Amino acid sequence: MRKKIVAGNWKMNLDYASGVSLFSEIVNMVRDEKNGDQIAIICSPYIHLNSLAKLGGEVVKIGAQNCHQNDNGAFTGEISAGMVKSVGCEYVIIGHSERRQYFAESNELLAQKTVKALENDLTPLFCIGETLDERNNGSYFEVLKTQLEQGVFGLSAADFSKVVIAYEPVWAIGTGLTATSAQAQEVHAYIRKEIAAKYSNEIAEATSILYGGSCNPKNAAELFAQQDIDGGLIGGASLKSRDFVDIVKAFNS
Ligand code: PGA
Repeated sequence: MRKKIVAGNWKMNLDYASGVSLFSEIVNMVRDEKNGDQIAIICSPYIHLNSLAKLGGEVVKIGAQNCHQNDNGAFTGEISAGMVKSVGCEYVIIGHSERRQYFAESNELLAQKTVKALENDLTPLFCIGETLDERNNGSYFEVLKTQLEQGVFGLSAADFSKVVIAYEPVWAIGTGLTATSAQAQEVHAYIRKEIAAKYSNEIAEATSILYGGSCNPKNAAELFAQQDIDGGLIGGASLKSRDFVDIVKAFNS
């Protein structure tokens, strides 16, 4: 059975007090309303992590949005995977398209970050996705395959089995333009086929593959009902407790 996961990505939003308050609301609602075995995660800015992990760790899991590829040292302003782990985080987003685009994170660097996350017992939520041009010129399968090959396919089978993949078409992130459930399913099935070819059918069947990009309470149930979609990575809608919790509940509708 694949894990069903809904992960919120707050990005660079919410000051400390607002983040703690929103998270408390989400924890209470998830505790009262969730009925199913899905996992809810909030990936907050670093400054919230320590407090959030203490507030709701059992009900809603905590993740970081990035980590550095080294253990420690003279990297002013950076945070290591070990530091993230030390405050009670269990997850870390790696390779979000905004990191790739605005911080020039290459597949090679992301592969290093993934290794560090795993060494520190964090579950990587490893993001891949094509741009609008790549979608329109039909090269998207190739782009996704390269991101997988260079980002995570260097891992041993045992390590890869701990990774969650998130398919986030760049053209759908924050744009209100969701991939249709058929478009998303097509890509998810492709990703699973590539995992099977690289590792095994068994590992491919056990890998959770999340969809991200303008996922909201209205479209989540249809997306999550697709055979190869095992949950979502939620940006904008994770900043509203009602919307986020309704997406968590969309698995049961
Ligand atoms: P969005 O963002 O839900 O606001 O489109 C998704 C993401 O960037 O993870």
